[in-house]
Amino acid sequence: MNFKEIIQEIYLKIKPIEDNGQLASYIPELANVNPENFGIHISTLDRVDFGIGNCYDKFSIQSIAKVLSLCLAYRIVGENLWERVGVEPSGTSFNSLVQLETDNGIPRNPFINAGAIVISDILISNLENPKEDFLAFVRSLSSNSELNYSRKIAASEKTVGFRNTALCNFIKSFGNIENDPSEVLDFYFDLCSLEMNCKELSALFLFLANDGKNIVDNNQILTKSQTKRINALMLTCGFYDESGDFAFKVGVPGKSGVGGGIVAVHPNQYSIAVWSPKLNEKGNSYKGMRFLEEFTTRSGLSIF
Ligand code: DON
Repeated sequence: MNFKEIIQEIYLKIKPIEDNGQLASYIPELANVNPENFGIHISTLDRVDFGIGNCYDKFSIQSIAKVLSLCLAYRIVGENLWERVGVEPSGTSFNSLVQLETDNGIPRNPFINAGAIVISDILISNLENPKEDFLAFVRSLSSNSELNYSRKIAASEKTVGFRNTALCNFIKSFGNIENDPSEVLDFYFDLCSLEMNCKELSALFLFLANDGKNIVDNNQILTKSQTKRINALMLTCGFYDESGDFAFKVGVPGKSGVGGGIVAVHPNQYSIAVWSPKLNEKGNSYKGMRFLEEFTTRSGLSIF
């Protein structure tokens, strides 16, 4: 498979197309990004490593970090995790409050904000120094001790985090948050502010294509079964109410963030990261979605 040629061709095709998407301006700092940025990087299990465009520029990975916090929580508490958060697609936007009332404060899945806030609470209850320990986990996955939170982005989100504050307090009223909501939100905003580039992101997610094993040091991060389940959740819930569309058009597990990043994983094959900051009306990168649709079509490598 000539990934390099396929990626180059699709990049050149998608780059000039008109992008009617919008930057995620509800977090003020995210609106300060050059909307023209467009980068891609693939890492494969047979050691192809190729990137193009702005693949070495760091960006805010936002909700993509929810996969990493979920992996760490799953590693620590195992199957008990699913008593606190569900595994069903919500069919709603990422910051919706509506289902929590009828679902008694149990978020539909760990990737909507409500679910990721509960996962943050679980990590706070189980880690000595949540922010430092989570960062150490992410750094160990990537073998990169430079990865970090962005103070600027986290602070910017804190000034406008009213919906997330509402979600956290509402869930707490049902007894599904153990810690002080301000501590939970502080940790949640920090983890969303993680920054990395497409190369770092595709390399970091490669363990999910490798039955849960880090290819650099052979460390088993998650069991094979846990890995399968994380991938299933990314396929069914990774793009909010556009998850069906992503499965239909792209056909691999993936996760998006409002910073315009998308990471997609093909079990036993590759991990690919795409970044283009303008988002479609569902909150997912417009060009990122277009690129990945062409990529799995041209390469013939979807899971279906
Ligand atoms: O809580 C928020 O709204 C953001 N920190 C994360 C949202 C996000 O990335 C949704 N992804 N598409």
